[in-house]
Amino acid sequence: MAFKKIGVLTSGGDAPGMNACVKAVFNRATEMGIEVVGIMGGYAGLVNGDIVPLTREMLRGAMTVGGTRLYSSRLPEFKEKEVQLQAVETCKREGIDALICIGGDGTFRGATAMTKHGIPSIGIPGTIDNDITATDYTIGLDTSTNTTLRMIDNLKDTCESHARLNVVEVMGRNCGQIALYAAIASSAVAVAIPEVPFDEEAAIKKIATLRDLGKRGMIVVVSEGVVNPDGSHYAEGLAKRIQAQTGVETKFARFSHVVRGGRPTMRDRATAAHMAVRAVELLAEGKSNVVMCELNGLIRPVDIHFALIADRMYKNKLEEGDLDGFTPEQLEGMKLLCDKRQEEIENLYKVAGHVGFR
Ligand code: ADP
Ligand code: F6P
Repeated sequence: MAFKKIGVLTSGGDAPGMNACVKAVFNRATEMGIEVVGIMGGYAGLVNGDIVPLTREMLRGAMTVGGTRLYSSRLPEFKEKEVQLQAVETCKREGIDALICIGGDGTFRGATAMTKHGIPSIGIPGTIDNDITATDYTIGLDTSTNTTLRMIDNLKDTCESHARLNVVEVMGRNCGQIALYAAIASSAVAVAIPEVPFDEEAAIKKIATLRDLGKRGMIVVVSEGVVNPDGSHYAEGLAKRIQAQTGVETKFARFSHVVRGGRPTMRDRATAAHMAVRAVELLAEGKSNVVMCELNGLIRPVDIHFALIADRMYKNKLEEGDLDGFTPEQLEGMKLLCDKRQEEIENLYKVAGHVGFR
């Protein structure tokens, strides 16, 4: 099928680099003679028919800015078939032949639903969390981690001046990558992530020892996904216990959404552009229902169903029948992916345990 018009949307939590991705979709598609419309506010815009033709003028400078000019939203109702069919109606009415959906795993579920309903769709991973098992990288991680790091660097200055420790809580949902990279790059004395049990006693002992050795400023990084048994955030309580048990004056900071905005780094812009260009080309070649993944430095399309099930496998969320229909080779491929992600986290965690010694 020759596409005349494709729609692009950004959905779920925004991520720096999403605009770069939209701009690259627009540029490549325009070059190929395909019209591009922006769907405003994620799947909500698709359901409500909030569609704008994209123009060079609108996207001027978009490569360099954070957030998403197409706006974003979360629409849980998009899981329902009737709601999806309203989106299909919009596509038919607007003459949208295919979709590029930028976001996280939920966004890909939406994209696969649209493909099944006859609108070929491709997903592009845009989330600061880097929590999509099928890809080594998601657009936004680099910028958000660098922002996190700059803020920790600032805290380190003042911690050093006042001989204080600062516990910082960072985003990442159930993935500890932002915390790990920030901890390593700032020589944090401890890091707590959701994937590895945290030995609080050992961390507090280490902090006391380091203070005895004369260390003044110290940083402890905690991923927001580390929670107390009642589900409340763990980091703030940890700060209080560190101070109570070591006598080291301890402050607490939650960086929260501030690390989700800001100018995208080269890594995020370039990856976004690469994935976008290939996504448009693949649609034009007649391929859909894939998510663009980075695997060992190469951008490759991965079947969305495979990607989503691999994700559930890694997150121990497999449901009855999930693995049905996959070949033994595909199942082996999923397992290898899961092992790779696990190994990445473990390796980073080990390094983090060594760099924060002095
Ligand atoms: P985030 O993790 O930031 O919430 P996601 O990409 O996971 O972002 O989800 C974004 C949106 O994708 C959701 O708000 C919803 O509109 C859509 N979505 C989530 N799950 C499904 C599903 N099972 N089927 C269709 N659409 C879904
Ligand atoms: O998925 C991106 C993310 O920023 C997570 O790191 C965080 O847990 C969540 O979104 C916050 O969502 P909201 O913007 O709805 O507060």
